[in-house]
Amino acid sequence: MARMTSPPDNDAMPETSLPTPDTVDIDALRGGHIKSFVHRRSHITPSQQAAIDALMPQWSIAYKPAVVNLEKVFGRKAPVILEIGFGMGETTAKIAAARPDDNFLGVEVFNAGVGAMLKRIDETGLQNIRIIQHDAVEVVRDMIAPDTLAGVHVYFPDPWPKKRHHKRRLLQPPFVQLLASRLAPGGYFHCATDWENYAE
Ligand SMILES: C[S@@+](CC[C@H](N)C(=O)[O-])C[C@H]1O[C@@H](n2cnc3c(N)ncnc32)[C@H](O)[C@@H]1O
Repeated sequence: MARMTSPPDNDAMPETSLPTPDTVDIDALRGGHIKSFVHRRSHITPSQQAAIDALMPQWSIAYKPAVVNLEKVFGRKAPVILEIGFGMGETTAKIAAARPDDNFLGVEVFNAGVGAMLKRIDETGLQNIRIIQHDAVEVVRDMIAPDTLAGVHVYFPDPWPKKRHHKRRLLQPPFVQLLASRLAPGGYFHCATDWENYAE
């Protein structure tokens, strides 16, 4: 892996392409891969939009196809938990408040959710949450180095209940293998769903 010793901007270190497990068909992850979300024209409240306008630079990291320096973006060395699809951020904020010694990296595509999460960070004063607004598959593939994460949380991923839509589900074997490769030894994966056939 080619890595420069002193990153030009400390937020991200240039990488050509990160290693992925041999068994992961990376083309299946993107390229031909179908996204697990659709860009909905969802309602965003004025206060969520105001939070995005004012707070994105402070609490979010822009997607780049380069490994992110997590110690730099959180301003400390601590275990990092990745949460994919935090929705409105309620659970994320509760867990981050209960675990002040851990860093929480939340990835979400949904604008109103990002606005709501930023509002929560502002209102609670939580210091241990950062946000990336981008497709989590690309974030994990491109920005998270192998053997990095202390944990991964995925709570109630979109169920895509119709059988013909199952291919849109976020948690498919290639992506789960990729996630596993990003976990540090002893790291954990915590997922909740109320769809039995998704859990299976
Ligand atoms: C059903 S919601 C669950 C939200 C929250 N975890 C909860 O339990 O209330 C699933 C969320 O995952 C997000 N999502 C789906 N696919 C994603 C992806 N590839 N990258 C980032 N977020 C994604 C959606 O935008 C949505 O907000």
